[in-house]
Amino acid sequence: MDVMEAIRNRRAIRRYRPDPVPEEAIKTLAEAAQWAPSWSNTQTWRLVFVRDPEVKAKVAAAIMTTNPTGINRAARGVGEAPILIAVCAQNDLAGFYRDGPRQGMPSTDKSEYWYMFDAGLAMQNLTLAAHALGLGTVHIGMFNPAEVAKVIGLPSNFVVVELMPLGYPDHNPPAPKRKDLSELMFFDKYGG
Ligand SMILES: Cc1cc2nc3c(=O)[nH]c(=O)nc-3n(C[C@H](O)[C@H](O)[C@H](O)COP(=O)(O)O)c2cc1C
Repeated sequence: MDVMEAIRNRRAIRRYRPDPVPEEAIKTLAEAAQWAPSWSNTQTWRLVFVRDPEVKAKVAAAIMTTNPTGINRAARGVGEAPILIAVCAQNDLAGFYRDGPRQGMPSTDKSEYWYMFDAGLAMQNLTLAAHALGLGTVHIGMFNPAEVAKVIGLPSNFVVVELMPLGYPDHNPPAPKRKDLSELMFFDKYGG
């Protein structure tokens, strides 16, 4: 599949068929994430593919089903999808000096966030690869990370960045509109 075609046609999938995801596909998706760039090649993210229905139900319970604007639209699909990925990352490595007298000190104003950026890059690779294999995904940011960390036994210097159901799509949602390019990009100066 052409890269632009995959980028344009990937959608947030919130309804899944129960068909299992082959091991080979899981490996391909992990490899797609593996080749993402990261701060100083620190590769701080880790993927926990939760397949055990009991563990999956416990992780899914950490998804907040209500928010100020209503129901989390992805919650139902999490129960349907055969896999729920817990995307984790070490939060004290990317963006921090690793050697010398400044070891452990932040190296930029955004140091405490670079692991989020790196995890996002890896997951974009993964979602596009999944789409190319006919699989569906959705990013889920609304959940209780401490609860998930406890269920999956996460070390204390790691955080759960997001949850992502994975499975074969059971719907074909229309593309939500994007802002016009004239609003999103400029030449030479902001707003120019
Ligand atoms: C960081 C992040 C968090 C998200 N969290 C949720 C969520 O909690 N629940 C949900 O239903 N969708 C969630 N989404 C999916 C977005 O709503 C969706 O990607 C967006 O509406 C654009 O639709 P598209 O992915 O089909 O292009 C999240 C997406 C991102 C990038």
